[in-house]
Amino acid sequence: MKRKLISALLCGAMAATMLAGCGSSSSDSSSTADSGSTTTSESGTTADSGSAGGATGTGKIGISMPTQSLERWNRDGSYLDEQFQAAGYETIVTYSDNDSSRQVNDIQNMLAEDVDLLIVAAIDGEALNTAMNEAADAGVSVIAYDRLILNDAVSYYVSFDNYSVGTLQGQYIVDALDLENAGDKTYNIELTAGDPADNNAPYFFNGAMDVLQPYIDAGTLVVPSGQTDFDTVATAQWSTDTALERAQNILGSYYADGTQLDAWLCSNDSTALGVSQALTSDYAGSNTVIVTGQDGDEANLKNIVDGIQSMTVYKNVSDEAVATLALSEAILNGETIDASMADNLGVECSYDDTSYETSDGNPCPSFLLVPTVITADNLQDLVDTGLYTMGDDGYLSAVQ
Ligand code: GAL
Repeated sequence: MKRKLISALLCGAMAATMLAGCGSSSSDSSSTADSGSTTTSESGTTADSGSAGGATGTGKIGISMPTQSLERWNRDGSYLDEQFQAAGYETIVTYSDNDSSRQVNDIQNMLAEDVDLLIVAAIDGEALNTAMNEAADAGVSVIAYDRLILNDAVSYYVSFDNYSVGTLQGQYIVDALDLENAGDKTYNIELTAGDPADNNAPYFFNGAMDVLQPYIDAGTLVVPSGQTDFDTVATAQWSTDTALERAQNILGSYYADGTQLDAWLCSNDSTALGVSQALTSDYAGSNTVIVTGQDGDEANLKNIVDGIQSMTVYKNVSDEAVATLALSEAILNGETIDASMADNLGVECSYDDTSYETSDGNPCPSFLLVPTVITADNLQDLVDTGLYTMGDDGYLSAVQ
């Protein structure tokens, strides 16, 4: 509740700031679709605008997002853009169409534009060395946003507790099938993980498997395809089509004889969408298959209402932007950044300086927000964030 209230207040303050800025600021923005799209925005703050709207920041922020093809990144890009502008910063936002070399280029262009700070959600955590080294040479701090970049030029990491995203998915399956009380009963499950280039993907998968593996070892959970290792079940670029195709193959090979499938672990919503499509078109059984997800994408929330997907792990990316802004301001102002900051970010968050490393033995101080489980029973919680609305048909739409 407290967190929601703070978020709402921040959103309100942000909206007020933006409105206050509208009359006096000039804004120059150009944007094209995902093909290296760039939006440059000038906050147009004047010397005294800070006192009116609280917009005291000065400087230029480069915000590099991976792609517009996955729903959440559009939200991340716009929340970050809005919140930094409302705080007085000039912003450059790019989406790199899931193409790592394009992301290197986009970041290099930001450096050429003399950004003061970089916020980067990496397409491939190991493919940004050139751009990261150039940032370090230019003395520009880098915040790895949501996905860690494996380069020591990264100063801080802001994300959700990725491992717990996976444990929430695994535990959901355990509870929904009541595996604790299964006795001799066995259940069939299949697994779909995320993009191997995304540093988060193994965390999600390992979190889930740490919960599920004991039941697999005990024989209570069976994986008829035998596909259980991360590399085999991973999905390049989190592609819905790739997940769909693999699910169709598995259903055709292992379930066409009427074998019942009980659950399908999916690490996120875009892959869950593909798996659900395959279940709708290619699964012969009449039972409802438990399907997990992550992100709260609109199509998946609709599937949850319709009973096609069971749950999604929701990450409030507006809060992630709030935390990123606060951390950025502390960096730019040369303030001390330590565990106490996590308590003052205004969002539920923990400080972790051991779990993530940018290179062997080089821990990356991390601010990790808390993900939550959304099912058909608590969709109202999303509406309560102010970030979704519910139509008369019961389906949710993201406000942006
Ligand atoms: C992950 C991110 C997830 C999900 C996925 C696909 O890195 O943490 O929230 O969006 O990428 O984009």
